[in-house]
Amino acid sequence: MTLIDGKATSEQIKQEIAVEVAARISQGEKRPHLAAILVGHDGGSETYVANKVKACEVCGFKSTLIRYEDDVTEDVLLQKIDELNNDKDVDGFIVQLPLPRHINEQHIIEAIDYRKDVDGFHPVNVGRMSIGLPCFVSATPAGILELLRRYDIPTSGKKCVILGRSNIVGKPMATLMMQKHTPGDATVTVCHSHSTNLVEECRQADILIAAMGQPNFVKADMVKEGAVVIDVGTTRVPDATRKSGFKLTGDVKFDEVAPKCSFITPVPGGVGPMTICSLMMNTLKAAKHLF
Ligand code: GUN
Repeated sequence: MTLIDGKATSEQIKQEIAVEVAARISQGEKRPHLAAILVGHDGGSETYVANKVKACEVCGFKSTLIRYEDDVTEDVLLQKIDELNNDKDVDGFIVQLPLPRHINEQHIIEAIDYRKDVDGFHPVNVGRMSIGLPCFVSATPAGILELLRRYDIPTSGKKCVILGRSNIVGKPMATLMMQKHTPGDATVTVCHSHSTNLVEECRQADILIAAMGQPNFVKADMVKEGAVVIDVGTTRVPDATRKSGFKLTGDVKFDEVAPKCSFITPVPGGVGPMTICSLMMNTLKAAKHLF
């Protein structure tokens, strides 16, 4: 069994980006600039955004954090998005989700200029990805593809089962794993809360990607001997023995599943660090105006 080290891989990629940024700057190009809008004080979102700012420093990017309180109006956010769309210094920006209930997330996502949508959430980017055009790919699926690529994990002709059908992970992951590309060329099945034969489907998977946000859902008897298991879960499960008060828990029961796998990602230290790394790769791509 090989443990897929997302943390080490992400550190290596950030170093590669930093080298490329330094070379670009020495050639007179501007420093890539990522802006992030954070609304409210949700613990998870605070951590994610702080990590994104830190990653920008490592990569040699400029970063700007724009904060609003929970009671910000949709109009104020839309105005700020318009400003960022037109700011020539900002290459890409994100609006950290989830947003408070009184704000329509789809209005916000669609207001972002798709050429600056480094999260890859805008329908233009989603559509371009689905027909194989250059685009920004949502960070978590892009990070998983990068891990499959860097660990030389064969995907062509393999049976890939994805648990979860979210717009951020499950759906784009399915599109990418079936695309005529490497990694890709897999036969893809997407299971979700209404699937009637989920356990049987999982047992047939050469590559199992768990992204439904249910801690420890995938047990050993759901995994084929020699399978590749990618765990996207990051649920904060209360744990009084920890200083933070919680334990980041994946969708896979790691201890019993790992011995059956050819490759597996741990939680934490697997997919999580790669997600931020993909955002950095997308920001560099935005700065290069590749499409
Ligand atoms: N919330 C959870 N994941 C993400 C992400 O990848 N981007 C943004 N903007 N918000 C998120």
